[in-house]
Amino acid sequence: MQNLLPITVPEHVAIIMDGNGRWANARGLPRTMGHRKGVEAVRDAVKTAAEAGVRYLTLFAFSSENWNRPQAEVTDLMGLLKAFIRRDLADLHRENVRIRIIGERSNLRGDILPLLIEAEETTSGNTGITLVIAFNYGARDELTRAMRRLATEVAQGRLAPEDITPERIAASLDTAGIPDPDLILRTSGEERLSNFLLWQGAYSELLFVPELWPDFTRETFLSALEKFACRERRFGGLAQPTLAVGS
Ligand code: FPP
Repeated sequence: MQNLLPITVPEHVAIIMDGNGRWANARGLPRTMGHRKGVEAVRDAVKTAAEAGVRYLTLFAFSSENWNRPQAEVTDLMGLLKAFIRRDLADLHRENVRIRIIGERSNLRGDILPLLIEAEETTSGNTGITLVIAFNYGARDELTRAMRRLATEVAQGRLAPEDITPERIAASLDTAGIPDPDLILRTSGEERLSNFLLWQGAYSELLFVPELWPDFTRETFLSALEKFACRERRFGGLAQPTLAVGS
């Protein structure tokens, strides 16, 4: 991080971890091995983000659409998340990491939901980096759930339609209280958002890197942060440089 001044570090980085399957295919391994290797990259990414001074790291672990994968792969991905929480929760807690989970919870199997809640509750008082795990998450699903809640409040006369503001919508999303991502990064060379943080990403810088997720190392992450530092963010207005003098 020697070249980056603190002002240039994004407060919130959100990552679409793509390419586990291709990483495994390229080695003649089953796709599940790619996901397993991907968990190691998750551990490194959390450490690197915390060291760099990133305050929020959101990882897209399982999308609403991932249910369409073969049952064995879905089961494996669920198992990996459960194992990650069981094995890593104590370490993350010790490292002062706060965990938040975003995504639909109502259709999750009984054995996973208590683990997610435990991870959030155990770490709720931590003051270090917040690791946001997007699990069973899809932005359109998140927005639909929020709109339904707001519509119910209006129908019950507890909210006037004109009280529905961008701020109230943001506060009704799973990410309530979490700042919008400054940087959305996707690995594996694919260049799309795939239903990830569509509301929150309105002004995010987008960065697409060629590395497959299991190959996403500390160096790759730091180089992405350096690229972010060179971007000029305008938020629809005039220049607001992120590159600090001397960096
Ligand atoms: C995309 O690769 C990756 C996923 C669908 C899942 C990501 C999950 C992990 C890294 C492991 C569990 C996560 C945590 C937070 C412990 P892909 O399978 O779509 O790859 P491909 O495009 O090459 O097929």
